[in-house]
Amino acid sequence: MAHILIVGGHDETFRMIEDLPVELSVFQNSESVTAQQARRAHRLCVFDYRNQTEALGRARALHEFKRIDAVVSFTEHGLMPAAVIKEALGIKGNALEAVRLTRDKIAMREHLAGRDLGAVLTRSCHSSSEVRSFLQSVGGPIIVKPAEGAGSSGVFRVSSLDQVESAFARSRGEYPGPTLVEEFIDGLEYSVESFTTDGRHDIIAVTAKTTTGAPRYIETGHLMPAVLAASALAELRGLVTDFLGSIGHSFGPAHTEVRFGPAGPRIIEGNTRPGGDFIWELVLRAMGRDLVRESICHLAGLPPQSRTPGRGAGCVAFFGYENVVIERVQGIEAAREAEGIIRLQCSLEPGQRLGPLRSSADRQGVIVAVGGDLADAERRLAQAQDRIRVETSPLPH
Ligand SMILES: Nc1ncnc2c1ncn2[C@@H]1O[C@H](COP(=O)(O)OP(=O)(O)OP(=O)(O)O)[C@@H](O)[C@H]1O
Ligand SMILES: [Mg+2]
Repeated sequence: MAHILIVGGHDETFRMIEDLPVELSVFQNSESVTAQQARRAHRLCVFDYRNQTEALGRARALHEFKRIDAVVSFTEHGLMPAAVIKEALGIKGNALEAVRLTRDKIAMREHLAGRDLGAVLTRSCHSSSEVRSFLQSVGGPIIVKPAEGAGSSGVFRVSSLDQVESAFARSRGEYPGPTLVEEFIDGLEYSVESFTTDGRHDIIAVTAKTTTGAPRYIETGHLMPAVLAASALAELRGLVTDFLGSIGHSFGPAHTEVRFGPAGPRIIEGNTRPGGDFIWELVLRAMGRDLVRESICHLAGLPPQSRTPGRGAGCVAFFGYENVVIERVQGIEAAREAEGIIRLQCSLEPGQRLGPLRSSADRQGVIVAVGGDLADAERRLAQAQDRIRVETSPLPH
């Protein structure tokens, strides 16, 4: 039986591979560890695995005791430790360079700058005066964002010099670390889900994304598969395939975010893991692809597993109330039972005082629907939403 080390992950990750004949060792942090993981894992080691030195030290000790065949992570903060372990022990897993280039958005832009993969004007900034001079040199709106951010935390669109000071300070305040500025790519947004084996990139789905818009662009929903002209779809697929090849992504799922600007598609960011925001669930339930299971089977040398066919399409919509007091919430249970609803989570409660949405973490829940085609999935989502009544009043100043 192959011995696989998994770094991080949620119960859902472990549920997907519950029955696979593999010996699992798990590195987990104390906030995410559960009894279910303890039951599934042959060995469970609880510590802050983001500390790469400690993660590597523990992996070396484990490897000496029982040879590890492969290491993998499906979660943002586990990707770098897993790649460092893979490289140091010379075992199967994803390439360190591909992970490094996608975890650090400055490194990614530097990497893309020398290649024919859709130019984006960009600079790493240490002061607001650097941001100001970048804005002037671009001559149009720009995005200020943290180099290693997530969930749109610290992301701001800036279109005039008087906005620079506050956007730079707030971005740094919300997410410490280096700041990246980029020309604003104006156009519709998509994400591309893929699965790579032996350097071959299989594009599984293109998803259309909706956001709150300027200034923060927090994600409000996803539609899979996106409706796109065949030529645009081919361009997106081509760009993402070339991007994954250029960073040396050699194994596993990837989630690449793209904006279709006036000069064609442009990479916004790449991630060497399944898409978050329940996009992974759309991949599973709409496309019939369990990327966690496929990854583990591939690494363990198990034969491809039979697949449960997907429904064909799906959509995700988040609850994103802001600057209100919640007075009443009704119909959540009825909505959960509506046809086609596979997930409904809602933390809204009467009496809640909700300030502005600052990142994805401030959203109050999600509805996920699947259907035979996108129109069907959207209709089902709307039917569920119609059953929900949320009464609000303005948030007093
Ligand atoms: N150069 C750009 N041009 C236009 N919009 C951009 C640009 N960079 C970022 N954005 C917008 O800001 C959003 C968040 O940026 P990005 O994806 O880089 O940050 P993030 O914090 O990793 O987001 P998330 O984790 O929610 O995907 C993007 O989805 C996009 O809408
Ligand atoms: Mg993003």
